[in-house]
Amino acid sequence: MNDVFGRPGIRFSTGPGGLTVAALDSGAATASLTLLGAHVLSFQRSGSRPVLWLSERAMFEEGKPIRGGIPICWPWFAQHPEDAAMPAHGIARTRLWEVSETGAEDGDLRLALELRDEPSSRRLWPHAFRWRFEVRLTDRLRVSLTAANLSNEAAVCSGALHSYFAVSDIRAIRIHGLEQTAYLDSLEERQLKFQDGPIAFEGEVDRIYTDTTAECHIEDPGWERRIGIAKTGSLSTVVWNPWIAKAKRMPDFGDEEYLRMVCVETANAGSDLVSIPPSGSHTLGAEHWEES
Ligand code: BG6
Repeated sequence: MNDVFGRPGIRFSTGPGGLTVAALDSGAATASLTLLGAHVLSFQRSGSRPVLWLSERAMFEEGKPIRGGIPICWPWFAQHPEDAAMPAHGIARTRLWEVSETGAEDGDLRLALELRDEPSSRRLWPHAFRWRFEVRLTDRLRVSLTAANLSNEAAVCSGALHSYFAVSDIRAIRIHGLEQTAYLDSLEERQLKFQDGPIAFEGEVDRIYTDTTAECHIEDPGWERRIGIAKTGSLSTVVWNPWIAKAKRMPDFGDEEYLRMVCVETANAGSDLVSIPPSGSHTLGAEHWEES
């Protein structure tokens, strides 16, 4: 792998679970990604704390999702719209992707992966497709998923770049950018509610903010920093923290870990469905950075 795709600042090695991991170092920041799910595992500005959270109990096994980092939820978000027996959050995050391209220009690193349909994917998702996930690293992390529909029918998709951010204490942080925005409360059968002021956390939160292209900021007084989140190709933003009871129910999530993370997801969720015509494509993109 290194002979073909290795570059100054991009190295491949064997990581947890025997999975191939790409390590990126732009000088200003580092990041890593595994081919399972084209899953970003880490992103950290040089000399600072991790921006992304990865569970101490994360599992690294083909066919299983990884808890933390940036799972790619695609081509459906949450439960499958017609069949609850299908895997939650689609098929992209549990399959092995292939590296298709790397590039390194002056502190700007690029890594692209691809996933194509095959008989086993068509049993779960009937369309022919080519999905490309691109990671760019400077002092910021930019990720994008371009889903090309290669079938003869429109493919109606939902999904998310399901970023897990590391925080000092969920009870002290605030999320800015979604003030005065309507949301669907997933804890109350997606009842429509309204956000007044910044988001604070005093219990489980599972919301789909609707009709929003807003940039968000996680204000973290404990670590004296702000994390910025910008997006493209997305009209919905999901905010999630499982709190105590749900954390306990998840085998790959430590009982106390809910205190140290929050998800702010660049999504196509709720009524924000994307219909990709034959030969068309849709790109969902997110940018993350740290401000101190
Ligand atoms: C969020 C959903 O996006 O993902 C939550 O809104 C869900 O309802 C969470 O619990 C984690 O999902 P999973 O499948 O990775 O456990």
